[in-house]
Amino acid sequence: SLSSSFSSSSLTADEEKKPESKQVQLIPPTKILYQDFWCSGRLLPNVISFQKHFQALDQDIILASQPKSGTTWLKALIFSVVNRTRFTVSNTPLLTSNPHELIPFFEAQLYAEDEIPDFSTMPSPRLFSTHIPYASLPESIKHSECRIVYICRNPLDVIVSFWKFLIQFAPSTKVEDLAETWCNGEDGFGPFWNHVLGYWNESLKKPNRVFFLKYEDLKDDIVGNLKKLAVFIGFPFSMEEERQGVIEDISKLCSLNNLKNLEVNKNGKINFPKIRAGIEKKSYFRKGEVGDWVNHLNPSVVECLDRIIQEKLSGSGLTF
Ligand code: A3P
Repeated sequence: SLSSSFSSSSLTADEEKKPESKQVQLIPPTKILYQDFWCSGRLLPNVISFQKHFQALDQDIILASQPKSGTTWLKALIFSVVNRTRFTVSNTPLLTSNPHELIPFFEAQLYAEDEIPDFSTMPSPRLFSTHIPYASLPESIKHSECRIVYICRNPLDVIVSFWKFLIQFAPSTKVEDLAETWCNGEDGFGPFWNHVLGYWNESLKKPNRVFFLKYEDLKDDIVGNLKKLAVFIGFPFSMEEERQGVIEDISKLCSLNNLKNLEVNKNGKINFPKIRAGIEKKSYFRKGEVGDWVNHLNPSVVECLDRIIQEKLSGSGLTF
């Protein structure tokens, strides 16, 4: 999601109005290896500020993911589960705001260099999100009782999804080149194997603190997984709610087709002020299919990625 900050179209309205002003050259991406993950140069000061200043509360719920793994979907779901007694499906803020406006990214919407956000008016539980790997989360998150929900997705589908996302800004991007970045472990916030394994291992060690989800499993059984997720975040569905079909209602509300066709998500941009980027809301909703990679990746790329996935995840118990 945030990696689109690499694009030259990710400029603020002000910059767009003033073409003569100094613009940040974002293609090719400036990525820096920081604490063993590839971080965009634009995000790094924000990441450092977040690491230094964030004070977690035990009630916080933090959604973690790599871009294009289902972040937008999970934001809509978590927001709906947590706020289901405050709002109904006919007056939920999801009808008037994009999910990224309801659950902000620490590193793109909240923290900037030398800037500490004011959370005093945020309702409890506070809902946040991040693309940062587990190892680099602030100590206060690791040592509090707050809960982390992680979503991951088959890297082959992530690559295709990211490519489709990127070509709106950089039309000449080749999917093979992108796949090579993944094979080399140079994907944003990656290597992807470190990202998934960091959260995976933590979810095994502390199952009450880290909930590990796969995009594919969520597609396969949304109701079952939503039930477990609700228990994990401390908002379990009652028998009565289950009988009333509340879980199905939330699933439908947050389905790709429903969100994609809402006026609010068809036009306009989401503002990521801390990286001076605005990104088309509609670009967060595409096909949402499992296995779309077969239509775009050639066999040699697939072989390379399969080999790396096998090798890096071997012995972890995690498979794609
Ligand atoms: P595709 O490009 O494969 O369609 P992220 O939110 O992490 O940026 O991930 C974007 C991917 O999630 C895109 O995948 C997008 O279509 C898909 N997606 C967005 N909203 C979704 C939803 N409500 N249900 C299922 N998939 C969704």
